[in-house]
Amino acid sequence: MPKLHTQFVCQECGRTSVRLLGRCPSCSGWDTMVEEVINVSTEKRSNRPLSASGSKPIRMDEVTDETEERWQLDLTEFARVLGGGIVPGSIVLLGGDPGIGKSTLMLQVATEIAQNSPVLYASGEESARQIKMRAQRLSRTEKKDVSSEKLYLLTETNLDVIFSHVEQIKPALLIVDSIQTVFLDGLSSSSGSVSQVRECASRLRELAKSVGIAVFLIGHVTKDGTIAGPRVLEHIVDTVLHLEGDRFQSYRLLRSMKNRFGPTSEVGVFEMQERGMEQVLNPSEAFLAERMAQAPGSSIAVTMEGTRPILVELQGLTSPTSFGNPRRTTNGMDYNRLLLIIAVLTRRIGLCLSDQDVFLNVVGGLRVEEPAADLAAALALVSSLKDHPVRADLALIGEIGLSGELRWVSHMEIRLREAQKLGFKAAVIPKRLRANFATPEKFEILEARSLDQAVKMAIKIK
Ligand code: TYD
Ligand code: MG
Repeated sequence: MPKLHTQFVCQECGRTSVRLLGRCPSCSGWDTMVEEVINVSTEKRSNRPLSASGSKPIRMDEVTDETEERWQLDLTEFARVLGGGIVPGSIVLLGGDPGIGKSTLMLQVATEIAQNSPVLYASGEESARQIKMRAQRLSRTEKKDVSSEKLYLLTETNLDVIFSHVEQIKPALLIVDSIQTVFLDGLSSSSGSVSQVRECASRLRELAKSVGIAVFLIGHVTKDGTIAGPRVLEHIVDTVLHLEGDRFQSYRLLRSMKNRFGPTSEVGVFEMQERGMEQVLNPSEAFLAERMAQAPGSSIAVTMEGTRPILVELQGLTSPTSFGNPRRTTNGMDYNRLLLIIAVLTRRIGLCLSDQDVFLNVVGGLRVEEPAADLAAALALVSSLKDHPVRADLALIGEIGLSGELRWVSHMEIRLREAQKLGFKAAVIPKRLRANFATPEKFEILEARSLDQAVKMAIKIK
């Protein structure tokens, strides 16, 4: 009997060690090392002689253009995040919190593709009946009759068995729900461990590349927001998608974090409804739907999500601190950004916020990371403190610098056009110093050099 070789692998970062270490030297995680058996057959794979390899170089101009081969989808928001459709032979990882709607979204994609080509949905999490029930729930809205003749469901976690079914069915699309539940027999570590996840993903990748089927992997996300198991997984796949959203809101954002076939930071907006994920084709309208225009403390920012401008409402509230330290709370915006804005408001405008609790909220569960929303955030706070509304038909765009100056932001033209499209009449923007751009017609542009000027333009204090 051959001797078993084992090693200890950090489940967070993948570092290996021959001894059990309490603390991983690479990522400093405590108690993250797990013993795993080294599989000799998989370890030896790379040692094969060069001549045995079947690959052969081809000329660049002989390579077919993959963009023409993309599968278009009715679910255009999904296609857009992928860069214009599903690329055959690609492997995509879809991550997100539990219960956010990953399986629902993939099932919708699966039923759509299955109208033309066979699809295999391998689930290690739910039984075929459960998936069918979900599919029925989804199909109730569809106007067209969903024929699911070509959609095959498989409840299986053994990857070799899944492969044998792939050989039989020859699907165009394979969905593995989730990568943490599948395992390879050759490896004795439990499913979900780093080595299983990594090995399974590379096998699936080989499958995608060699047979030319598109593979989607669903992945769980750990508490701190990374895809469980591994960063290593992100290197193996072509595209990493992330489905996120506020648990208590129905909006879901699908972002691409890495994409070998299209732009990253592209965003698709969905709404989780009774009957599945509905795409939101005009997100700005959706995010502004419940706005009370004349309320103090509300302002409109135009942020860019990928190549698409989205108007969001920011709400600020200041209220006198009862005792102790004043509190600062943000929802949907960076906490430190709020502190910076408060500091600038205090020092450059002379606003007294040291005895006020400050709350800042991005409406609709969106996360705004862009500094271009600074101006809107600042004005929401000023408006709340002074108890005067911001002009209702005004959009606010600009980054705030530490000296209280307004700084130019990119894509100004696209932002302004989106604001106009949604019925806004004017915008406060930073003063143009270098940039030149075409302003939309019948749209008032108010240029402010500093935050102070912007406040005077946006809030009319009698
Ligand atoms: P699911 O796709 O199972 O999430 P994940 O695979 O990411 O864990 O979605 C689960 C949630 O979605 C569940 O709380 C119920 C809700 N849901 C709807 O609101 N409408 C629907 O049509 C479906 C299928 C699910
Ligand atoms: Mg699921």
